[in-house]
Amino acid sequence: MAARAATERNPGDEMTETEPVEDWSTDYDIFDPQFVTDPYPIWAELRSACPVAHTDRWGGSYMPSTFETVTGVAHDVENFTSYEVGVAPVPVAYDEQGNRLRSIIASDPPEHTPERRLMLPFFSPKVVERYRVSTRELCRRLITGFIEDGRVDAAGDYARQIPPRVIADILGIDPEMSDQFTEWVQGVLELGLQDPELRERYRAIIQEFFDAEIERRRTEPGDDLISFLLTAELDGGPVPLNVVRGNLTLMLVAGIDTTWSSIGSALWHLAANPGDRRRLVDEPDLLPTAIEELLRAYSPVTMARLARHDTSIAGCPVKAGERVLLSFPAANRDPEVFDDAEEIIIDRAVNRHVAFGAGIHRCLGSNLARMEMQVAVEEFLRLVPEFELEDADAVTWAGGQVRGPRYLPVRFPSRSPL
Ligand code: HEM
Repeated sequence: MAARAATERNPGDEMTETEPVEDWSTDYDIFDPQFVTDPYPIWAELRSACPVAHTDRWGGSYMPSTFETVTGVAHDVENFTSYEVGVAPVPVAYDEQGNRLRSIIASDPPEHTPERRLMLPFFSPKVVERYRVSTRELCRRLITGFIEDGRVDAAGDYARQIPPRVIADILGIDPEMSDQFTEWVQGVLELGLQDPELRERYRAIIQEFFDAEIERRRTEPGDDLISFLLTAELDGGPVPLNVVRGNLTLMLVAGIDTTWSSIGSALWHLAANPGDRRRLVDEPDLLPTAIEELLRAYSPVTMARLARHDTSIAGCPVKAGERVLLSFPAANRDPEVFDDAEEIIIDRAVNRHVAFGAGIHRCLGSNLARMEMQVAVEEFLRLVPEFELEDADAVTWAGGQVRGPRYLPVRFPSRSPL
């Protein structure tokens, strides 16, 4: 069955086997297992040896690794387009009328900004606060489900469970759909980037699902984002259906494995660093500052741009149509910008990280993501204050567009359910 194919692969099998990398500056491989598990020493090396690396793999791309070059490209909408933002080439999807299924993340000015503005109110700090109580209840319910066992896969059975339920609420969809959501997103993004057939299959499943939801909202509107987009006005008319469909898919793709990965990385760090964990248990007020540091240090998202014209990045020529990776995780470890950039300092005072991107495409869901991360880590620390990695070598990571732990076994003193 199509819906099971993505998860039937073992986490360790997720990466397609390719030739080992000998020279990271001329032949990097974003799906190389070493890079996926621990990319930081590689970026550190590249930053001093070759600040704009290149590869012919996965359709070919350039990879700047300094804060200045990454954010410079992110801000430069004149020279770089968001038409294709996948870190590997992905065919553009069209509707039955031949219109591109377009979302804001894959749009440039002038279309981008009014369409983004349309959705902003759904992600304002005030609106996000409405979800805090239900997110906390959800986290407690999840913890209650495993607290007696004295162990849990903190990625699969905790972090992964949180974002899809919150997005379901925003979209007015049954939260019981969340397992499917996560699987579809993995099919499209995590596994699908290396497997076009799998990606297309899951893209079609998501499209079919939203088409049915759109039809339902036409007769039974609610106060959710889908109903809103169907009745909103853009340039004096209705929002084109290809834009509604594109942006609904984006809500799943952008909002689920990003946040799941960040929550997972935060718990991985705290499981492996008892000093930081104990300090946050003793000083819970430090949590918002610590979350920013964990976002900086383990930023999950890498995006891409295509050069519009022949141009250059820090003197390195890039031809029209060539792909450039925006490694926000690399930018966030640049020692020119962050003191002791490779150290995780949970009370770091100055922290202008770019985990949520930079420029006009800066993350629309950052308030929501921060709230989910804070509540998820806070509840975990409150109810499971003592925990450690069960087996550090058993932890698996996904990489490519979104990096984060996918299997994270932790153990802790067992307690009766709350
Ligand atoms: C920790 C979790 C998250 C991280 C690290 C993250 C990161 C990012 C980054 C780096 C971008 C910039 C893309 C670019 O420059 O091409 C972005 C854009 C975006 N994100 Fe997030 N994101 C997270 C969670 C979310 C959530 C929960 C949502 C909610 C649906 C969301 C929705 C979006 C949208 C709609 C955009 C496109 C904005 C635009 O193009 O104007 N993200 N995100």
